[in-house]
Amino acid sequence: MASQLIRSGSKAARALLSASRNSPLLSEGKGVAVAALANAGRKLSTAASFYEKSGGNNTSQSKWFSAALAIPAAGYMLMDKEAHAAEMERTFIAIKPDGVQRGLIAEIISRFERKGYKLVAIKLVVPSKEFAQKHYHDLKERPFFSGLCDFLSSGPVLAMVWEGEGVIKYGRKLIGATNPQASEPGTIRGDLAVVVGRNIIHGSDGPETAKDEIALWFKPDELVSYTSNAEKWIYGVN
Ligand code: RTP
Ligand code: MG
Repeated sequence: MASQLIRSGSKAARALLSASRNSPLLSEGKGVAVAALANAGRKLSTAASFYEKSGGNNTSQSKWFSAALAIPAAGYMLMDKEAHAAEMERTFIAIKPDGVQRGLIAEIISRFERKGYKLVAIKLVVPSKEFAQKHYHDLKERPFFSGLCDFLSSGPVLAMVWEGEGVIKYGRKLIGATNPQASEPGTIRGDLAVVVGRNIIHGSDGPETAKDEIALWFKPDELVSYTSNAEKWIYGVN
């Protein structure tokens, strides 16, 4: 029974970590691996404790007992290594001058927080027009480009980086359609904005833009990597 437990525990840990490594969405694999390894560890510890209570105290029994406890520990160490090796997905989110001036910072941050995403960088800045032009460079041929850059540089912008599984795409869902007249109720723009020229928030529209925008707005040492206490309640499989 002991060796079976140990074998199945380590096999599960290996399979999960390998799934995590091979997943195109590393963050997804990692979240799953973290939760399932935690579960594997919990099950093994419970089984070991039950075995001890039922009188398993000779030398070979105590060996497997220690080994069973060591497996989840090893799993956690591997998880930790994995977690540092592969960062979770990140996106750049900015509350534009209209959102800041209208006192919507807390409202907007709370929507990302309540969803389960993690804030890893934040600062209040007044960008220059040149900086705004860099940020919106892909729109430079559009007739509203100059006015848009004037507006973005007209006052404080709350620049942020949010982290989590699927945060780039789902962040855009939380934000809603570009034109608030078309944004669904329940989205940030749908609930809090009326016209496209004052749509209060920006979000990166894909992995490449997220990478470029984070690099444009933040220095690497302004990004804070940390484990949130809530993560084990946000990511997991049953
Ligand atoms: P954002 O970049 O700000 O997150 O917005 P988005 O992806 O939803 O839309 P995008 O096409 O990138 O447009 C950037 C911003 O330009 C302003 N805009 N004005 N006058 C107009 O027709 C018009 N169209 C776009 C909006 O502020 C939009 O968020
Ligand atoms: Mg855009």
